[in-house]
Amino acid sequence: MGRSEAVPSGEPDRPEVPEQRSGDGPYLQVRDLRVRFDTEDGVVRAVDGVSFAVERGRTLGIVGESGSGKSVTSLAILGLHNVKRTTISGEISVGGRQLVGLREEEIRRLRGRDMAMIFQDPLSALHPYYSVGRQIAEAYRVHHPRAGKREARSRAVDMLGRVGIPQPAKRFDQFPHEFSGGMRQRAMIAMALVNDPDLLIADEPTTALDVTVQAQILDLLADLQAEFRSAIILITHDLGVVSQVADDVLVMYAGRAVEHGSVERVLRAPQHPYTWGLLSSVPS
Ligand SMILES: Nc1ncnc2c1ncn2[C@@H]1O[C@H](COP(=O)(O)OP(=O)(O)O)[C@@H](O)[C@H]1O
Ligand SMILES: [Mg+2]
Repeated sequence: MGRSEAVPSGEPDRPEVPEQRSGDGPYLQVRDLRVRFDTEDGVVRAVDGVSFAVERGRTLGIVGESGSGKSVTSLAILGLHNVKRTTISGEISVGGRQLVGLREEEIRRLRGRDMAMIFQDPLSALHPYYSVGRQIAEAYRVHHPRAGKREARSRAVDMLGRVGIPQPAKRFDQFPHEFSGGMRQRAMIAMALVNDPDLLIADEPTTALDVTVQAQILDLLADLQAEFRSAIILITHDLGVVSQVADDVLVMYAGRAVEHGSVERVLRAPQHPYTWGLLSSVPS
């Protein structure tokens, strides 16, 4: 005689990482993060003891010159470094979960769903041979394995519309090369947001765009944040951009935080000479 047990019907879901979203602390907490690469030429200490936090609904701007460790910091949060050649220490907590030391498959479950990244170059994130809409739909299905094709398509069309792409149902079937630079950047934002991540990291998302489109993308990020209440990290080398859209700012120099505080405070009374230099290029 078999026992009568409630057997879940439908496709089996992958095991979920337990939800820990009710914690009181900031959504993202980084403490004393150090990232070190072992290279043939020796050890590179790309990030050397950086701490910061971002709450839901807030934007942290990270500024610093090229090579100061901004991208290495964000890739560490998303678990995208090559584990063999990278040593990461410190704490990275996302929604109450400690990420440093998690296994790759555990991080993969969070990536895209709880945290997502917008890169500088959409073409590095979009595959040239698949339609834009299909790639967004697939990104949705990775974290919603029970969703059928039709549901994923309608979700992707919805997101394309939300990021301001006209005629989203028609655009769904077009390929990346049929999109302008600004539209591609919007499509990548749609892909990053398709699973409602609570943490969004935008790494120089407007650097390749002209000034008008840049302003539109920044407005879009602000609107989407008001709607989704996500925690946002905006990486840029432009302190003017930070002063427009961020609540807090972290200034990085040679792998360290040389300045950290509210945008108001840092812009009013910068402590570090490097920040003075950055400020001189900001229209008052
Ligand atoms: N995979 C890697 N191996 C070795 N060094 C790296 C690697 N990735 C980045 N670096 C070095 O780490 C430093 C910080 O890089 P990065 O975070 O990309 O700077 P940025 O602030 O411009 O984003 C740079 O000196 C860079 O050359
Ligand atoms: Mg970078």
